[in-house]
Amino acid sequence: MPTTRDSNGALYLGGVSLLDVVRDPSAPRPTTPAYVYDLDAMAAEARALRAGFDGAPHLVAYALKANTAGAVVRALAAQGCGADLVSGAELAVALQCGVAPDDIIYNGVAKTDAEIDQAIATGPRGIGAIQLESVEEIARVEGRARAAGRRARVGVRVNPSLDMDGATHAHIATGHDRAKFGVPRPDVGRAVQLCEASAHLELVGMGAHVGSHFKSTGPYVESAEVLFSIVSALRGEGRLRSLAFVDTGGGFGVDYGESALPVGGETRDAVPPPPAFVRAARVAQRRAKLDDLALYVEPGRCLVAAHGVLLARVTQVKVAGDTRWLMIDAGMNDLIRPALYQARHRVVPLQAAPTNEAPIPWRVVGPVCESSDDFGEHALPPAPGEYVAILDAGAYGYTMASVYNGRQLPVEVFLAGGRVAARTERVPIERWVAERLRAGR
Ligand SMILES: Cc1ncc(COP(=O)(O)O)c(C=O)c1O
Repeated sequence: MPTTRDSNGALYLGGVSLLDVVRDPSAPRPTTPAYVYDLDAMAAEARALRAGFDGAPHLVAYALKANTAGAVVRALAAQGCGADLVSGAELAVALQCGVAPDDIIYNGVAKTDAEIDQAIATGPRGIGAIQLESVEEIARVEGRARAAGRRARVGVRVNPSLDMDGATHAHIATGHDRAKFGVPRPDVGRAVQLCEASAHLELVGMGAHVGSHFKSTGPYVESAEVLFSIVSALRGEGRLRSLAFVDTGGGFGVDYGESALPVGGETRDAVPPPPAFVRAARVAQRRAKLDDLALYVEPGRCLVAAHGVLLARVTQVKVAGDTRWLMIDAGMNDLIRPALYQARHRVVPLQAAPTNEAPIPWRVVGPVCESSDDFGEHALPPAPGEYVAILDAGAYGYTMASVYNGRQLPVEVFLAGGRVAARTERVPIERWVAERLRAGR
């Protein structure tokens, strides 16, 4: 359980009272909205996932897009994680956090020439693999490698043409025929041929990533099986001789509290723990007789989501008709998942109410001038207190935050060893105002 309560009902994360975090007299004001992360728990999550490979050659390439905070990336790199990234900026963060160039995978459908050059120029041999997402991209990467006088290691990201209907939200399903991602199945043979014919490309990987937040291993394995069957068929034709790894992508789901909510009178199945996805993929890999290859995975969410919370202060209460609105100082600009994907995060008070006070429904909303700035209805005490925590906010929270409505980015607080190890400085709002005033001058 990532958050716990003490006997007085105060909420804790990583052994630290979250009330102490927001009331810390030495912290710059205001102390909310604030993301708080438990670095030790994230590191433990990475260790558990790596143990799921049972000693087989592997790489856990942490998908930085989930959370790019230096302390988070360093904590995961220290556990032997590599990095999966999608921009030159993420590449710079990964390298400076100690990720070895060999352990870096670069996905992305529209990498710029400058980003490709950066990946090729990194380290003695470039990064571990630039994932090619279209047949058309191959000539461009080859041209950049030739110009640099280098041989770039590449992978082909296959679009396995799987609909995944109902397995995840449509906005985060990436392996179907209408998705912009990956080389379409009929073109994979040609893509492999082009890479193998080039003196400036070394084809080291074949991968697929079909979506995020799968709540069972079935869809993940289905995609892995398509990938493995393509790899086996190509090997049968004498191709892929330089292949070092197969990459089954990220997408391991987490429990945002849904498993406790009954559907049609029945409780839902629990989301399998991250190592279960790896073990299921390993079974498929062995069955496909591809055991000589390393297995790469690209998880983001499952390593960090549950070990981060977004703390907010209650700024206004409003009762209108039947609705009790709880208005907080965190909005969709701080955590956009509910507005973007209809995601639901649990909202809980930092200080639990006395047990004799039954919770009542509150509609929790932020200050942003959009009706979608809405965290949903939550059972909270009749007097919810000064602060609430939005749970499971460690992934796709801060990285998707914006300054919409002239708001500041939230601060981030890092917990390690049962104490606050570091916190970021809030960018002064005056700087934002000055920058906007300069625009167009
Ligand atoms: C190519 C790729 N790999 C990995 C991930 C990480 O997915 P997750 O955070 O669900 O593990 C994503 C997420 O969108 C992705 O696009």
